[in-house]
Formats: sequence, structure tokens, C-alpha cells
Amino acid sequence: MGAEPLVLRYRWIDSEQAAVMHRLMMLGFAEYRRYPLPSSALTETEQDVRRALALGAGVLVEAQSSPASDSAESWMLVGGVRLRCPEAPRGLVIAEALAAKRQGEAGASLSFERMFVLPDFQGRGIGAALVEHLVEISESLGCEQLKISVRSQQPDNRPYYRRLGFRVTHYSERYEVPDMVTYMERPLA
Ligand SMILES: CC(C)(COP(=O)(O)OP(=O)(O)OC[C@H]1O[C@@H](n2cnc3c(N)ncnc32)[C@H](O)[C@@H]1OP(=O)(O)O)[C@@H](O)C(=O)NCCC(=O)NCCS
Repeated sequence: MGAEPLVLRYRWIDSEQAAVMHRLMMLGFAEYRRYPLPSSALTETEQDVRRALALGAGVLVEAQSSPASDSAESWMLVGGVRLRCPEAPRGLVIAEALAAKRQGEAGASLSFERMFVLPDFQGRGIGAALVEHLVEISESLGCEQLKISVRSQQPDNRPYYRRLGFRVTHYSERYEVPDMVTYMERPLA
């Protein structure tokens, strides 16, 4: 496929679609196999993905290069992400949990994890567009922050999220590296 502009759409999924999310995530994170410090994304099973989706939600990104055609076959799955709401008790969907939270105190937030774009589609703005979609959803739910935790090395993912408006809040240790995990957040309107 050339570099023609892509039209994107976002499909919200739940744990019923764990198999497709797991299969795509393995492809999206394949580049991490070359690093000595492993990515936990690559050791997750389909069951792990199902459990994670049951506690939050997922978004799959579909793309088409020819907007003239709207047949189902013209859409390709190109990326995805999982969402978590720290305030959500098990079994409550994200929107309900945030609505309940807003009635009580301020400061509701949404977190995302395992964002990926399939290798053949990377570098075409899909990741940035997906983050903007999450920002819109989070703002419509009344969240004050959108949060993510990223690797600080192998590779260092912080510059990517800095460019998308995220700032570092704190670090934690992993693999005996004191700041291996960087926590970042983007304030919302
Ligand atoms: C990170 C990822 C989701 C970005 O998606 P994408 O659609 O390729 O990103 P965009 O097209 O919006 O942005 C591409 C730009 O980001 C840069 N970029 C990608 N990863 C980067 C990183 N780790 N650090 C700094 N810049 C990075 C690219 O070099 C490119 O730069 P350019 O615009 O100057 O050419 C994708 O590369 C991916 O799936 N990687 C493997 C899985 C992963 O690392 N996920 C993130 C876990 S926190």
C-alpha cells in the first residue's frame, strides 16, 4: 500500500473480542523481541487480554485508503489500545464508573495501555490520531487527565508521548532499573 491518506475509524470492543486484540497486539509489539529487557506485552496470553478487557475496554483502529468504497472488506485492522479506569470496580463499565466518580469527588482519570500500530502502518499518524480519539472520549466522560505508563528504555517511549502533550509525573523500578517505568499524563480540558 502506498502513502495515500488513510481514513480511520475506531471500534470499541469488550472481552468478547479478546482473541483479535491478542493476535494484533502480538504483531504490533513484535519489534520488542530484539531488546534484552522483555516487554510484558509479548508474554500476555489471550486469557490475560480477556481479563484486562473485562476490567476496562479496548479500541481497535480500522483504516481504509479509498473512502469512496464503504464495503466491509475495504477496512483493515491496523492498531489498538486498552483502556482502564482506576476508579472502576470490577464489572462497572468505564462510563458508569466515571459518572459515579463525578458525583462524589473531582479528579477522575482514564488510563490506556498496550497501544500499538501494526508495523506496515507505523509512521502515518495513526498512533497520534488514536491518542486524540482517547482524549475526546475522556473529555466527554468528564475526565481531568489521560494517563499512561511507558518504558524509559529499550525503547525510550517518552519522547513520543511528550510530543502528544503528556508530561512525566513519576517513575518506578523494573528489571532492577530504578526509573524503568515512567508514568505520564496529559491534562484535559
Ligand atoms: C509507538 C506507536 C504506537 C506509534 O504509532 P505510529 O502510528 O507509528 O505513530 P505516529 O505515526 O503517530 O508517529 C510517528 C512518529 O513517532 C516517532 N516514534 C515512534 N516511536 C517512538 C519512540 N519510542 N520515541 C520517539 N519517537 C517515536 C516516529 O519516529 C515518527 O516520527 P516522525 O513523525 O518524526 O517521522 C507504534 O510505533 C508502535 O505500535 N510501536 C510498537 C508498540 C509500542 O511501542 N507501543 C507503545 C507502548 S507505550
